Amino acid sequence: MKIKKVCVIGMGTMGSQIGIVCAKGGCETAMVDTSSDQVERGLENIQAFLQGQKKKGKIDQKAKDRALSLITTGTDIPRAVKDADLVIEAVYEDIEIKRDTFKKMDEASPEHTILASNTSTLWIAEIAAATNRPEKCIGTHFLIPAALTPLVEVVRGPVTSDETHDAVIDFLGKCGKETVTVADSPGFVINRLYLPMVNEAFFALETGLASAEEIDRSCTKGLGYPLGPLAAADAFGLDILLACMKTFHRELGDKYRPCPLVVKLVKAGHLGRNRIIWFYAHYALGPILLRRKAKEGIWINEFHR
Ligand SMILES: NC(=O)c1ccc[n+]([C@@H]2O[C@H](COP(=O)([O-])OP(=O)(O)OC[C@H]3O[C@@H](n4cnc5c(N)ncnc54)[C@H](O)[C@@H]3O)[C@@H](O)[C@H]2O)c1
Repeated sequence: MKIKKVCVIGMGTMGSQIGIVCAKGGCETAMVDTSSDQVERGLENIQAFLQGQKKKGKIDQKAKDRALSLITTGTDIPRAVKDADLVIEAVYEDIEIKRDTFKKMDEASPEHTILASNTSTLWIAEIAAATNRPEKCIGTHFLIPAALTPLVEVVRGPVTSDETHDAVIDFLGKCGKETVTVADSPGFVINRLYLPMVNEAFFALETGLASAEEIDRSCTKGLGYPLGPLAAADAFGLDILLACMKTFHRELGDKYRPCPLVVKLVKAGHLGRNRIIWFYAHYALGPILLRRKAKEGIWINEFHR
């Protein structure tokens, strides 16, 4: 089966970028979110990203216009999925919301349509069970930023058919992505390896093994990571780290216990620099700078250990 028309549900951080991947891959791409404000915000992000790519000389005006011309937007799932060959869901990481969205996707899309989820930690089997076509359900775990990261994890549920799997691999290849096929298990391969390491960096900080700056520098200079684990958590959100570690802990056992410092920081509302309070600055730069910045209105309050 050839995938020519795609629908992306959710135009947040990931959905917007996934839409770009599909449109740049030459597919008609219908994109949906819950309100016209969310749709507008998503579309602005798409336009800004493509403009940035053009400025950097990565794409020309023609490629930018072509990608944008292939994208349509709306708030009506049934309408958007009605002639899609593939629907990719990128809504909140919440099993009930995902199952409800999959039910709607299943009810409104043609029989041949493949239904994919971008979940990071949930079981594809559990999401697929909300549909009448579990053999056509699959995980396409794009990584942030999806339009630039070369790899996508393709997750086979217990009954995902070979035809579904092969069509998705073929489609992603045409969109310029490398793929790895992984089994259905929380965190798949990448998050299962990476997030416990980030969690461990918080244990190292908590037990005074080294300063935040030293922990991160060990990883950037010693291991060649583009970003240290603490700075990375600051960027993608401590609440997300905690939610993922809680799932791993519940599903996979004790060695995935969330670090108490992460629990404490999340309770105190220190979720990361894109989520109001920049916890990393407190550790790396110290309370004096933090207070000064707070006066400038950049940080809301200070975390006391
Ligand atoms: N952000 C990351 O680093 C990252 C990386 C890989 C995978 N993921 C996964 O991708 C998914 C999306 O994450 P995100 O970071 O883009 O979240 P986000 O909060 O930025 O965006 C989610 C979007 O979904 C929309 N939405 C919610 N319910 C909806 C519904 N019923 N119908 C249509 N739209 C709906 C929201 O309005 C929002 O715009 C999650 O499953 C997440 O685990 C995230």
